[in-house]
Amino acid sequence: MENEKKYITTEELQNHNKREDLWIQGKVYNVTDWANEHPGGDIPLMNLASQDVTNAFLTYHPGTAWKYLDRFFTSYHLEDFHVTEVSRDYRRLANEFAKQGLFKKKQHMTS
Ligand code: HEM
Repeated sequence: MENEKKYITTEELQNHNKREDLWIQGKVYNVTDWANEHPGGDIPLMNLASQDVTNAFLTYHPGTAWKYLDRFFTSYHLEDFHVTEVSRDYRRLANEFAKQGLFKKKQHMTS
């Protein structure tokens, strides 16, 4: 069936952690060809390759960054994906702050 979800295991995902084959966990994204264009540089992508980057993504990006994700989706979901309780709490809190409008502006310190 065409719409059937495809899955890989965490173990299989570990093989995709190299500069020329760079995947990211949960819903699996292949950022290999884009790492040099990432506005945050390739270092955070390399450091977090083959891991769950959801928290880093939420922390470092404005809401507008979400629309970039789809183009990198491999169609794979992680079969044994597990979110820790502390991550769940963090995401809930970040979501709550966003709803309150606390992340509306991106501000850089000058001085
Ligand atoms: C597929 C994964 C990712 C995508 C599609 C993505 C996309 C983006 C985009 C669109 C921006 C520019 C945002 C803006 O308009 O200011 C950005 C900036 C940035 N990203 Fe990512 N990113 C990804 C993963 C990550 C990860 C894993 C980290 C880890 C910390 C990260 C760290 C950053 C940082 C530090 C910036 C610069 C933020 C700033 O200018 O203040 N990104 N990313």
